Order: sequence, then C-alpha cells, then structure tokens
Amino acid sequence: MPLHRQIYDAYRSAIVGSMLQPGQRVPSTRGLAFELGISRIPVLTAYAQLLAEGYFQSRVGTGTVVSTCLPDQPLSPEPRRGGLTSDRKLGTLAKHARLLHTLENAPGRRGWGAFSVGQVAFDQFPFSIWNSLVTRHCRNTNTKDLDYGSPMGLQRLREAIAIYLRTSRGVRCDADQIAIVSGSQQALDICVRVLLEPGSQVWIEEPGYRFARNVFALNRCRVVPVPVDSEGLTVAVGIKQCRQARATLVTPSHQYPLGFTMSASRRLQLLDWADRARSWILEDDYDSEFRYENMPISSLQGLDSNGRVIYIGTFSKVLFPSLRLGYLVIPTELVERFRAVRLAMDIGPATFSQQTLADFIGEGHFSRHIRRMRLLYRERRNALLENLRATFGPTMAITGEQAGMHLCVMLNGIRDHDITQRAAREKLWLTPLSSCYAGKVSRQGFILGFGSTKTEEMPNAVGKLRAALGIAGKLAAA
Ligand SMILES: Cc1ncc(COP(=O)(O)O)c(C=O)c1O
Repeated sequence: MPLHRQIYDAYRSAIVGSMLQPGQRVPSTRGLAFELGISRIPVLTAYAQLLAEGYFQSRVGTGTVVSTCLPDQPLSPEPRRGGLTSDRKLGTLAKHARLLHTLENAPGRRGWGAFSVGQVAFDQFPFSIWNSLVTRHCRNTNTKDLDYGSPMGLQRLREAIAIYLRTSRGVRCDADQIAIVSGSQQALDICVRVLLEPGSQVWIEEPGYRFARNVFALNRCRVVPVPVDSEGLTVAVGIKQCRQARATLVTPSHQYPLGFTMSASRRLQLLDWADRARSWILEDDYDSEFRYENMPISSLQGLDSNGRVIYIGTFSKVLFPSLRLGYLVIPTELVERFRAVRLAMDIGPATFSQQTLADFIGEGHFSRHIRRMRLLYRERRNALLENLRATFGPTMAITGEQAGMHLCVMLNGIRDHDITQRAAREKLWLTPLSSCYAGKVSRQGFILGFGSTKTEEMPNAVGKLRAALGIAGKLAAA
C-alpha cells in the first residue's frame, strides 16, 4: 500500500477506535516524516485527506488536532467479521431474507461427486467451438456493442430461440414474444413481479422445485402445495384447495423431482381452470430436450389458445448453468408490461454472452450438441438403471427415468436426510426427496442426477449408495 494510504489508515483506525481522543494533538508533518524516516510528501497527502474528511482539525497556533466533532462512542474501524450474524443485526433484516437458505453447506457445493442433480457433462462441452466464437466477438467488438441493449435481449438470439421452440418444442411464438433472462430463476421472478401481488396465492407442485419456492417467498406470495401423481399436478385437488389461485407453476414435460409427464387430460383440465379463473400458468420446461424412449413431449404452451401460459426455458441443462441464460415466451398482449418490469429491474441482459450463444445456435452447434448429449445421457441413464436393479433388486421403485438427467428412487423405513451427510463423505451427492416438499413430507427418497456421472463410474457409485444406506437401508419396491 502506498505510504500516504498507510498513514491515513493508521490514523483513521486509531480515531474511530478511540485510541486517539478528540482535541489531541498529532505530530507536525515534518516531525512525523522525520520520525518515520520518509519524505514529507506522503505525510502531507495523508494529513490533507484526514482534514478533508473531518478526522483532523487545523487550529491556528496549536497545529493539527483530532477533530472534536466526532461522536464519543467508539466506532468500529472495519466491519467486524461475521458481525452481521449476530441476532440483533439479523433482527433488522427483512423476514423473508432471513429465512432463505444459503446452500453453503449443501454436500454438492463442496466439489465433484456422483449423482449431483445440477451438474451436466461439463467435459463434453465443445470448448474449442465456443472459445472460437467468444474470440470472434472479442476481436470484433464495435461501439454499438457497448451501448445498452434491449431489455428483451438480443434480437438475433430471440429469433434463433423462436425457430428452435417452434420446431422442437411445439411452442407457438415469434421472436417479439421472447425475453432473454439470466436463467429460469430470473424468468420466474419477472413473471411474479408482472403477474402477482404480495399475498397472491400460487399452486406449486408437491413435491416440487424448491428454488422456485424461494422466488415466491421473496415476492411474498402464498404457495398452495398441490399433490403430484403419475399424471402430474392433480388439478382437481388444486381447485378444491384454492380455486381462485392467481397462478400455478408446473413442469409438465418432466415433473421435478418425480419425473412424471403430465397427461393430456390433466393439461386440458389445467388450461380450462386457468381460463375460467383468469389465472396464469407458468410452464417450467427445464430439461425436455432429453427424452429417451420417444419424441420430446410438446409444450403445454402450444395447446393454449387463450394466452394464459408463460413458457420458461433455460440453457442450464442443455448447455451449462454458469452461462446464466434462459428465456421467457410471453403472450403478445403482455409483452410491453414484461419489458417495463425488466427495465425497472436491471435494464436488461448483458450483451456479450448472448452474441456468442446466437452464433452457437445459428451455426448449428446447438442442435449437434443436443443430439450428442442425448446419446450420452441415455447411456449414463441405462448404466444407472442396470446397476440400481442389479444391486437393489428388479422391483425397486424408480420414477422419472424416461427423460432429463435425473431419476428418483424411493426409500423404505429410513429418512433420506439421515443418509445424505454420510454419503457426502464418500463423494456421493444425494438430493433428499423430502427437501422438495413445501408441506408434510409424504415420501422419502433420493433424486439421482446422472448427467455428470460417467458410465464407467456408475457401478462404484451405486456400490457406495448401497454402503451409505447400510444394512437397514432398503429402497422401496414399486
Ligand atoms: C425444475 C428446474 N427448473 C429450472 C432449473 C434451471 O434453473 P436455472 O435456469 O435458473 O439455472 C432447474 C435446474 O436444476 C430445475 O431443476
């Protein structure tokens, strides 16, 4: 640190820590420079700063003194480490901010391991192609790229996404309805800000995606957990519990976490309810590119003729989560309101990664990557299924294995949370099913991600799962 800064810091800390008293004289600049064996210039600079900020006062005849206008109570010079965790300070924060999870201690945060749900096959990403696209944009940046972009995102990317969604996901849209966001999480946040009020009631799937619950909590909406069965959200139960809910969040293509596909009759029931109740359906279509036994299931949005569905997509699964890019498909008459809210939130998405992604899609790398990953994830899924059946018996209950990058196994007679920490010591990142319940937990089990677990690692990983469960542990039969 420069000398003048060191002198300034030392005086400031001594004053706010009450080591120097108001009115106390400080050495002359010449005297201090001599004592420290340094030139007078840094001392003069530091004193000038301390005078300007009011820590020192200059008095004719007596020289420079510590200001007499500072409060008597010592102030802490530096924020104390961990100071904010004290109960008193926490008490002054917003209640919903206090209650949110940091996830710092979640096993999966501590590095690599088998069965992590959030991780994809990172090592299979076409780095060289991506890097060459990034380099191209870095080299060719022009003045226009530096200006604010549209709150809705880069037009080229929105057009590429619209084509992809129309052809691959059966979504009815054009580029003007697409808004680029930083992942599903932000997409949901924007939807809630546009469509709901504090206190609005929202159906959520039970069990469901707990990160989504955080968004509703932050926006002070009231969630109404609606049970899921093998046909998806039980719409009739939802209507019985809270007919006038303002919205629902659903994962119809691959219910998270149980993995069921919403049946056609439930889809129609849900759309009918939304139309009658004038409510909104938020469709989270997070991993439906990967379907193994049949064609990808078309979106719920494509069935909607009343403009009640807002479609949410993400690149976190199909590319990689640190990209933090996703999109919304907004009914045409709401586009302006979404634009206004986005502008108020953060003005809009950053431009550079959008340019790279637009080229990645436009030049055909995206569809090639999906095709390659579909084969790879199918192989990993098959290896996981084979090893689970060989280890725990052919009749064990598994759900959700037809699509995506995770499946769910149920437990019999033991609590999932009791196993997860033990398993983490063996580098097994098990996500407990119980953590996906907003209300009463009715099933115990694990969500096993297979996206980042290599085929050849599967026997060992399933062996470790068996060991973590111990002799008492049994997976439930179907
Ligand atoms: C149900 C569900 N929705 C969305 C996402 C992706 O979220 P984001 O786009 O914010 O990374 C995930 C990721 O695991 C998920 O499980």
